Amino acid sequence: MAGQIPQRFIDDLLGRVDVVEVVGERVQLKKAGRNFSGLCPFHQEKTPSFTVSADKQFYHCFGCGANGNALRFLMEYDKLPFPEAVEQLAGRLGIEVPREGADDPRAQQRDKKRKEGVNLLELAASFYRERLKMQEGQPAQRYLLGRGLSDDVIKTYGIGYAPAGWEALKQHLSERGIGEPVQVEYGLLIHREDTGRTYDRFRDRVMFPIRDLRGRTIAFGGRVMGDDQPKYLNSPETPVFHKGRELYGLYEARQVSNKLEQLVMVEGYMDVVALAQYGIHNAVATLGTATTEDHLTRLFRLVSRVVFCFDGDRAGRQAASRALETALPQMIDGREARFLFLPEGDDPDTLVRREGTQAFQDRVTCAMPLSEFLFEQAAQGRDLKTVEGRERFASQVLEALNKVPEGMLKSLLLESLAQRSGLAQEQLKVLLEKRAQATQRHSSQRQAEQVEADSASSAKLGAVLTAPAQLSRSRSQALSPVGRIVQLLLHEPNLVATLPDHLEWLPEDDDAPLCRELIALLKAGRYRSPQVVLAHFQGSQQGHALAAFAKRELLIPKADREAELNGWVEHLQYVQRQRSPHEEYTALLAQERAGKKLDKEQRQRLASLVMELAQRQ
Ligand code: UTP
Ligand code: MN
Repeated sequence: MAGQIPQRFIDDLLGRVDVVEVVGERVQLKKAGRNFSGLCPFHQEKTPSFTVSADKQFYHCFGCGANGNALRFLMEYDKLPFPEAVEQLAGRLGIEVPREGADDPRAQQRDKKRKEGVNLLELAASFYRERLKMQEGQPAQRYLLGRGLSDDVIKTYGIGYAPAGWEALKQHLSERGIGEPVQVEYGLLIHREDTGRTYDRFRDRVMFPIRDLRGRTIAFGGRVMGDDQPKYLNSPETPVFHKGRELYGLYEARQVSNKLEQLVMVEGYMDVVALAQYGIHNAVATLGTATTEDHLTRLFRLVSRVVFCFDGDRAGRQAASRALETALPQMIDGREARFLFLPEGDDPDTLVRREGTQAFQDRVTCAMPLSEFLFEQAAQGRDLKTVEGRERFASQVLEALNKVPEGMLKSLLLESLAQRSGLAQEQLKVLLEKRAQATQRHSSQRQAEQVEADSASSAKLGAVLTAPAQLSRSRSQALSPVGRIVQLLLHEPNLVATLPDHLEWLPEDDDAPLCRELIALLKAGRYRSPQVVLAHFQGSQQGHALAAFAKRELLIPKADREAELNGWVEHLQYVQRQRSPHEEYTALLAQERAGKKLDKEQRQRLASLVMELAQRQ
């Protein structure tokens, strides 16, 4: 692998390509005002909700929330890893992609070592494959036959055999000029500190090569043929292998079809291989770890539906609820997750062999939707006939809902929760809002640090987001309603005229003082552009916060911004009406006790609340 691509180059590249052109080559676009629109390529739809803005060099889908710049589009649409997408774009302009420190001898050394590592793993994989075919591989052959594996599937998955000696692979590699330290670094050799000796990690095991998306072997899993422990031995973490990110079988699944619709997550190597043998080519397995966020990010980049497969026992249910937790924050519109529970005592391997392909497919098709599993979990051990039971039930579902991004799923879940719990939807929304605010207060410290870091690096207004990491952060860190209002006003200062005269609807959250000050300033009429507003606050703590708001692109068209702003205000007015004076009083008091200074308006409000509450008593 080569060095890092310099950020400067990426910025420059994005400045020179046209997102309308890039998207237009793949999606039919029609001019619509200043923008272009078409059918969204990332979800099924009949009427266009996908827009591409030439001004902003950004695309956005109002249906599924997909958004980004030209690079992101290529990554999502053509399913390219980041560096390849950069290469593609650069290729259009006929320019070469520079690599950071390409001339730096240390970087060159690093690259060389990486190549060496990958070559070495390839060499090991073919060594294991060869050994399986030889005399010493006979017992392993018999084992695989006994487990019902065909020659075809053994070949497709590159399954091999690691001989029983202590130095078989070491000798083989050393004869080819590969030093022992590299073999240790890539997990093939074990180095014992006490004796200083080195020996093969994998001995007398059936070997499953783990490949990356391009088919390069990056690690191994080895299974014993008897009852020794551990049953499976995996490569350790190495420069090319990170357990929590890789998925066994993904490369092979993509070889069969690069237009996959869904992927089935199973637990083991053997499950993936057995399913493939039975014609089910879209199974992948984690490598002895729980499902991580990284796994899901990778899967949802390739397909819109993931079916998690679990054993029917208690451990399986537990694993499923952990997977649910991990999946919730990723469920933006257009994505779907399902849960398949197998009969107790079975795994996909045994089941598909017993029931056959069609029966297994049917199980996958009928897998439980995420919503159902969520409700089932929350209902467990609770009597929904009682008020208390329903309250706990609703509260657990709301906690989960708090993690779901805004969108269709969230609305549907709320609607369904209203039906099941007997609580009004409006009331549930208020409760959810409160929860979200509590969570935000909790993480406000962390956010403040983030804001510092953000504004230190660049406070360019509407800076085009580039790296995928940045994109996902901006999506996952939802703003509070007040934060959103600040952001809308900052981008569209003129909209201040549409706000009501009094601000009693403004909840006392962390962004409230900033929001109030911004509104006062804009109402005074001296500031008409975001740049001037930012300049006014320059250097202050509020300036930092505002710069971070400014950096977040407003993804909705100009024409819709007023409606959104007013929608938020109405929403907050509604919340305000629902809120008792006592709650407001407690919130203000808590803020003061936490050492946060109240501003003038807040102090006045606190005083009047004290009066109001005293009169009631
Ligand atoms: P299982 O114990 O369920 O085994 O482990 P399995 O997949 O059914 O394997 P067979 O059918 O007995 O051959 C599931 C997965 O957990 C990881 C492996 O990735 C395995 O495929 N595992 C299991 C380990 O990493 N180490 C172990 O010792 C056991
Ligand atoms: Mn098994």
